[in-house]
Amino acid sequence: MVATVQPHIAAAALARVADRFVLDSDVLALDCAAQGPRLRSVLEAGHAALAAGATPWTLSFDEWEARIEGLRTLAADTLFEGDAEGVAMVPSVAFAVATAAQQLPLAPGDAVLVLDAEFPSSLLPWQQRCRQTGARVIATQRGHGQDWTSALMQAWDQTAQVRVVAVPQVHWHDGALLDLDRIALRARAEGIALVLDLSQSLGVMPAELARWRPDFIAAAGHKWLLGPQGLAWLWVAPRWRHLGDGLDQHWQARDAVEWRFPVQAPPPYRLGARRFDAGGVTDPMRLAMSAAALQQLQAWGVAVIAQRLRQLTSALDRALDAHRLDAWKTPGHAPHFTALRAPDAGQLHAATDTLRSANVICTRRAGLLRIAPYLHVDEADMDRVARIVADAVRA
Ligand SMILES: Cc1ncc(COP(=O)(O)O)c(C=O)c1O
Repeated sequence: MVATVQPHIAAAALARVADRFVLDSDVLALDCAAQGPRLRSVLEAGHAALAAGATPWTLSFDEWEARIEGLRTLAADTLFEGDAEGVAMVPSVAFAVATAAQQLPLAPGDAVLVLDAEFPSSLLPWQQRCRQTGARVIATQRGHGQDWTSALMQAWDQTAQVRVVAVPQVHWHDGALLDLDRIALRARAEGIALVLDLSQSLGVMPAELARWRPDFIAAAGHKWLLGPQGLAWLWVAPRWRHLGDGLDQHWQARDAVEWRFPVQAPPPYRLGARRFDAGGVTDPMRLAMSAAALQQLQAWGVAVIAQRLRQLTSALDRALDAHRLDAWKTPGHAPHFTALRAPDAGQLHAATDTLRSANVICTRRAGLLRIAPYLHVDEADMDRVARIVADAVRA
């Protein structure tokens, strides 16, 4: 009989993994939304690859290719329902979104629907594509107390010729959740392309490919995926894998025979989403670091990570209540990501300054203090944050 571990028991085991991370004991890092804490295994893999790079002739071309394909399969198994043919490697989310935008047909008057105050890498490529095609970027405005999903639905109702909906699952300002089940259902019913930026959720919340059937997914590798900067992910739906061009026309995306690249016409693209692989991202150090990070995520399991991080953000919410700071909570936040909402600018400054002088690292965005803990954090840390804020605003 196979013994199954209950997720809550597994999550309890994760409460003791802080020593797997490279940490500064004087600092409480609470901004995985900017960059994940560095796993020791990832750092060691990076160091080893850097050292091996001093003797580049020891890495054969075939071995390099095998590492690239091995990482693609690992990413697919960990993040994309095992669909290695749909995975491309790119340097950034901006690159991934620009690749997606270039594939999607847009005409004058068409609309690309995004959220207001979207992260620039999920906005700038649409602005450029709309300038090229005469289409329009329409930003969803959220009414007071309204959630993003109903605001998006309302903007969708009110906008003519919506052709693309480009949204995240979790808003990068405060961890507010969007209901991708509802959004995807409507996009499919209306034949509208769906492009997702899952940088703030993948690694904690799964990409539901079969359920959502999106067109493209972009995700940064250095946040909740714990990998290096400069290696991000682009998942491409089957319908876009057999046509279209990559942005940079790198040789690694081509199926050349014995390094022959005729002047008259390029060799065919490699199979699947490999045609969108970008140049430069497959340097052995990034491959090694990314592989080590994904192996650890796979070993822990995304559902278990989510459960442990929910315990932590719930502990923060409880501590805020206990300090009569309930107005500072973000309603409907993701399991792993929330924000402190100061009632006024004075209290925001006081909280920001006091947290900073206590070496608590959390980024201020749009008048909010993002709290995005990872597995190195525990409930006592969450209590401490609430206590520091309470002392700061009542001083
Ligand atoms: C929602 C979101 N998308 C994308 C990114 C990263 O984009 P890029 O890889 O283009 O720097 C971030 C954060 O850096 C983000 O919060």
